Amino acid sequence: MIPQGFPLEVFRRYAGLALPRHVSYPMPTAWSNLDEKDFRDHCALHEKDPDSPGLSIYIHIPFCESLCKFCACSKTILKKELRESAEKKQAYIEALLREIALAASARGMNRPVRQVHWGGGSPSYLEGEEIIAIQAALREHFVLADDAEVSIEIDPRHTTPHLLDCLKQARFNRISMGIQDFDAVVQSHVHRIQPFEMVRDVTEAIRERGIGRVNYDLIYGMPYQTLETVADMVEKTLQLCPDRIAFYHYAQIPEKIATQRGMDYKHLPSSEEKLAMFLNALEKFPAGGYVFIGLDHFALPDDQLAISLDEGTIQRNFQGMTTQRGLDLIGLGASSISHLMGLGYWQSHKDIPVYQASVMNGRMPIERGLHFSEDDRIRQEALSEIYCYGRADLRQVGRRFGIDPMEYFAREWENLRELEQDGLVELPAEGIVQVTHPLGRVLLRNIGAVFDAYLDPDAFKMGDRYYYSVSA
Ligand SMILES: C[S@@+](CC[C@H](N)C(=O)[O-])C[C@H]1O[C@@H](n2cnc3c(N)ncnc32)[C@H](O)[C@@H]1O
Repeated sequence: MIPQGFPLEVFRRYAGLALPRHVSYPMPTAWSNLDEKDFRDHCALHEKDPDSPGLSIYIHIPFCESLCKFCACSKTILKKELRESAEKKQAYIEALLREIALAASARGMNRPVRQVHWGGGSPSYLEGEEIIAIQAALREHFVLADDAEVSIEIDPRHTTPHLLDCLKQARFNRISMGIQDFDAVVQSHVHRIQPFEMVRDVTEAIRERGIGRVNYDLIYGMPYQTLETVADMVEKTLQLCPDRIAFYHYAQIPEKIATQRGMDYKHLPSSEEKLAMFLNALEKFPAGGYVFIGLDHFALPDDQLAISLDEGTIQRNFQGMTTQRGLDLIGLGASSISHLMGLGYWQSHKDIPVYQASVMNGRMPIERGLHFSEDDRIRQEALSEIYCYGRADLRQVGRRFGIDPMEYFAREWENLRELEQDGLVELPAEGIVQVTHPLGRVLLRNIGAVFDAYLDPDAFKMGDRYYYSVSA
């Protein structure tokens, strides 16, 4: 339910604009061609930098056995029963193993790896033994810290007890599951049938093995989802008590993602229904013991994400919200993105054969990216505070960069004043931006847009070209 007194008229004016979620800043639309040499040169800059405490590695497995119609991630469907699929998978694994060795040979890669995350696609498309072999190669070429967070995304429909045993053996300590929704009608519409009992059993099997923590990905705002079905999904999630919850708003971009065109858009929930879905989650998850972590994440208080929120070490990146701010992210696999803190982004070829040809020829598969300007770095700080903490102290940003924040952000401050009048933020002192609850929380991207120099200055209230960011 939308609470009495909620300023619906204001919400209607700002909601539904095509604005970025800022998992990166600047967004990929601003990137251009970069190459391997450029990446290696920049890696070397952090080799002995005491402010670069370590690495976070992302491994992309682009394969899935079947298509989920809502999915906007970078993936390829491979039917397991076809011999051709096995060959494609083998070629990819071979290239990935080669890339691990290549990446590790860059200067600066001997720093401790404190996080590893496998995403996709569905990494659980691989056999357990294949995952063990890739993880062993990673440990052979990189220095994995003993207390590293090692996580993997799995598809519960294809998760066997044997796969979980292998994940335990490969020392994963966090499993992330794509749930999306428990409702049978929605599941059937999006081509992803996985009843509650299946998710429950996989969750229990992970816990029985003592593998570690469990994350759930949920989506609201898809066709056939109603207030009731989404409220039921929240209830069912609370019953299973995952350690972290990502409660994503459905990113609907059929003009870019052809398979989304098959969704039945006549049955989409309205903006106001989606607002009610989100407000319900914003009430029910904390009432069930979860801490709200910016934008669309929730975590149990003893989960590292909630602890990091307290400690001020949370960060926004391509994986949403993560812990251990400051690590350099090294992406491995087709389409993956590396982020050297304070320096820039480098993305690998999305096209799998091109990616494979590059690494098999001994070249890191860098295709494009961007070097940060000083202005990018300043704005990254402000955006990170807004998204992670719902508050920004521009005076502190100013001190860090030696700028006068009120002069530097003069235009932004005017726009923030407009948002203040509409109740999205409070500006209690010069340079302090406080996001309001719940209006500012639900319109966080509009506040973020104020600081995005690549958008039209009025984009926060007018919308702009569509920026998409589940996968870059
Ligand atoms: C790459 S997918 C991984 C799915 C997982 N490996 C699996 O197979 O279950 C990561 C997550 O992105 C989210 N996602 C994908 N497409 C989305 C969209 N169009 N809108 C919002 N979230 C989306 C889903 O929640 C999904 O679980």
